[in-house]
Amino acid sequence: MAVGTHGESFMETDPPASRPARPGSAGGGRAEGPAGREDSGRDLAGLARIADRIRGAVESVIEGKPKAVRLALTVLLAEGHLLIEDVPGVGKTMLAKALARSVDCSVRRVQFTPDLLPSDITGVSAYNQELREFEFKPGPVFANIVVGDEINRASPKTQSALLECMEERQVTVDGTTYALEPPFMVISTQNPVEMEGTYPLPEAQRDRFTARISMGYPSPAAELEMLDAHGGSSPLDRLTPVAHASDVRELIEVVRRQHVAASVRQYAIDLVTATRKHPELRLGASPRATLHLVRAARAYAALDERDYVLPDDVQELAVPVLAHRLLPTAEAQVERRRPEQVVAELVRRLPVPAPGK
Ligand SMILES: Nc1ncnc2c1ncn2[C@@H]1O[C@H](COP(=O)(O)OP(=O)(O)O)[C@@H](O)[C@H]1O
Ligand SMILES: [Mg+2]
Repeated sequence: MAVGTHGESFMETDPPASRPARPGSAGGGRAEGPAGREDSGRDLAGLARIADRIRGAVESVIEGKPKAVRLALTVLLAEGHLLIEDVPGVGKTMLAKALARSVDCSVRRVQFTPDLLPSDITGVSAYNQELREFEFKPGPVFANIVVGDEINRASPKTQSALLECMEERQVTVDGTTYALEPPFMVISTQNPVEMEGTYPLPEAQRDRFTARISMGYPSPAAELEMLDAHGGSSPLDRLTPVAHASDVRELIEVVRRQHVAASVRQYAIDLVTATRKHPELRLGASPRATLHLVRAARAYAALDERDYVLPDDVQELAVPVLAHRLLPTAEAQVERRRPEQVVAELVRRLPVPAPGK
């Protein structure tokens, strides 16, 4: 199927040793932007090219999940953090590792367990006998991409050590503050809260994640592809980086410059405000959620090589960006109404701003 062949053709045309070109750099006649928007157009074309390479690399490993892969890439370019929530064995860890491995940057993985301590994440100051002074040993959070696996199996105290870093992009240990290098992205996986041995993430902590995605089971055809691809060694071992950390920093800059019309910003606010007044929700979306929604929409549009955001981008992202932050009322819970359904309904119901920038 298309996803599998996409991955293979990427492998053929882009040998592991090749160094990816920078966006906007010379070479490649395709770098011309649409008339009148040459500068942003050229940057956007570069972004799309590099993003396509990352997407191809990830999809050479994850079968039949183009939507999840696109959302993961959106969060990376929106300078956000990603939560992947689903039942065991559907490729959550695989997606996190594949995205991390496709970018040539520092990656650390932390397996969250009940006995993990906050200092196992941030690092510790230890006394160095020879130098006769305290020395800071940085923890795994000092990386460009941090994969926090099964985050809800750790105690709330340890979870919060990671989440502070996520918000502030810095770590304070024994009174000294250390900055975290950009890009800095946390990709966490977790099992649904109903599963045994989990400490659910408090709402304040879920709010730090730009988006929550689920994988879902693959289609039978994609599962068959998986069996073929995973017959021998893991395709993850064959995945080599297709972009540099500096590329990602540049792409993030391009995304920051994306235009969001006043009407689209207003639409995002309308959606968020509606969650705060909704009779089936006892906790609506925060202003941080609005920020994340607009930022993600910028990245989502950029992946389409569009230098402006459409209401459609906001609509596509409303559920993954908003739903995990919301709490249903007790009555809604009895009715088995999930926040995802409430958000989807708001998207259908709220008036969409007319086209035009
Ligand atoms: N959509 C998929 N495409 C490719 N491999 C998959 C997919 N879903 C599951 N797998 C395979 O299933 C195994 C378990 O995946 P893993 O990422 O460890 O699951 P999880 O973290 O969700 O428990 C891995 O070997 C992975 O390759
Ligand atoms: Mg896993």
